[in-house]
Amino acid sequence: MILVTGGAGFIGANFVLDWVSVVGEPVVNLDKLTYAGNLETLSSLNGDSRHLFVHGDICDRALVEELLATHRPRAIVHFAAESHVDRSIHGPGDFVRTNIEGTFTLLEAARGYWSALDADAKSAFRFLHVSTDEVYGSLGAGDPAFTEQHPFEPNSPYSASKAASDHLVRAWHHTYGLPVVTTNCSNNYGPYHFPEKLIPLMITNALAGKPLPVYGDGMQIRDWLYVKDHCSAIRRVLEAGRLGETYNVGGWNEKPNIEIVHTICSLLDELKPDPAGSYRRLVTHVADRPGHDRRYAIDARKLERELGWKPAETFETGIRKTVEWYLANNQWVANVQSGAYRDWISKNYEARQ
Ligand code: NAD
Ligand code: DAU
Repeated sequence: MILVTGGAGFIGANFVLDWVSVVGEPVVNLDKLTYAGNLETLSSLNGDSRHLFVHGDICDRALVEELLATHRPRAIVHFAAESHVDRSIHGPGDFVRTNIEGTFTLLEAARGYWSALDADAKSAFRFLHVSTDEVYGSLGAGDPAFTEQHPFEPNSPYSASKAASDHLVRAWHHTYGLPVVTTNCSNNYGPYHFPEKLIPLMITNALAGKPLPVYGDGMQIRDWLYVKDHCSAIRRVLEAGRLGETYNVGGWNEKPNIEIVHTICSLLDELKPDPAGSYRRLVTHVADRPGHDRRYAIDARKLERELGWKPAETFETGIRKTVEWYLANNQWVANVQSGAYRDWISKNYEARQ
């Protein structure tokens, strides 16, 4: 069995759902259920003995040690994090705690557990750390995409905390020999994405007839990957990644934000036309994000070359599936839009008017 952290969040839950159906191996899922964690996403696994949910904090060393001792996982796949750049600007403390201290706690618990394994289990064990392209900083318009050799130049409290966690993971391999692999992925999108990130926010706001808040000129570039493709990359790296290595994950889909918003509007105009006119009428430019990174782009050739991974979706197929998923799952969205979510929306957008 494997231990997953943060498996009730967007990517972690997609990973757990795919893991159980594709691999079929049991999963222990440790998640604190912050605002971003949602057990409803995992409801199709209710009663399935291959999924054991544990409500808890990765900073709780005693709990993590107990889970390792009880369930004896062959791997840890570490998703748990505070993940939203805008929230890190408003309140960086939780990011330092979960992303840095939490990763440190997991590494120490994993080191103790792994050191005591017998030789075969010890060589088979893996600690897979899920990280982000944001650790590399921001690219200029003509710069080549980030390779694994790009220096770390994080610019937000979120990316700085993720960069720190990447460094800890690297050091635990070099100093203690812990068998780690790290993935650095570009922006994900797809089903069960919390509707405060760009793509689900634009879909849900458009359907509610609300403004579509584009930060600044909307010409910032992100490199988009369908979440199921990120999950397949993680499975492949877990299976065959070289120890101590990092692998960039991306789908060669660089797009300016304004183009993403226009694409969503066009798909909604086709799939759920609004009698009031095209959804594009709702686009509203608002104050920019402080320190906003201008461009991310991932060079994923190492993963393609060494491990034969390729994404299954193009941006066009993935974004259509995503818009269709949100249209078909409005109850999931309604349940997520709790009081806490509404408080965040007023905090983040009122000051930008
Ligand atoms: P998310 O915010 O949707 O989910 C994070 C999950 O972690 C939630 O379920 C939350 O309850 C849980 N969590 C938070 N603090 C915890 C703690 N102290 N203990 C236990 N659980 C805790 O995030 P996501 O978008 O699914 O991202 C998952 C991972 O992938 C993160 O490490 C993130 O840095 C990385 N990543 C995300 C993207 C992206 O585009 N979303 C891209 C590349 C990498
Ligand atoms: O690059 C990978 C990263 O992608 C992950 O590590 C993060 O966890 C994930 O949240 C994501 O970070 P971004 O900051 O790129 O994602 P977000 O959806 O918040 O914003 C995407 C772009 O859209 C960014 O340039 C800011 C812009 N934006 C965002 C929001 C929420 C807007 O223009 N308007 C908005 O309302």
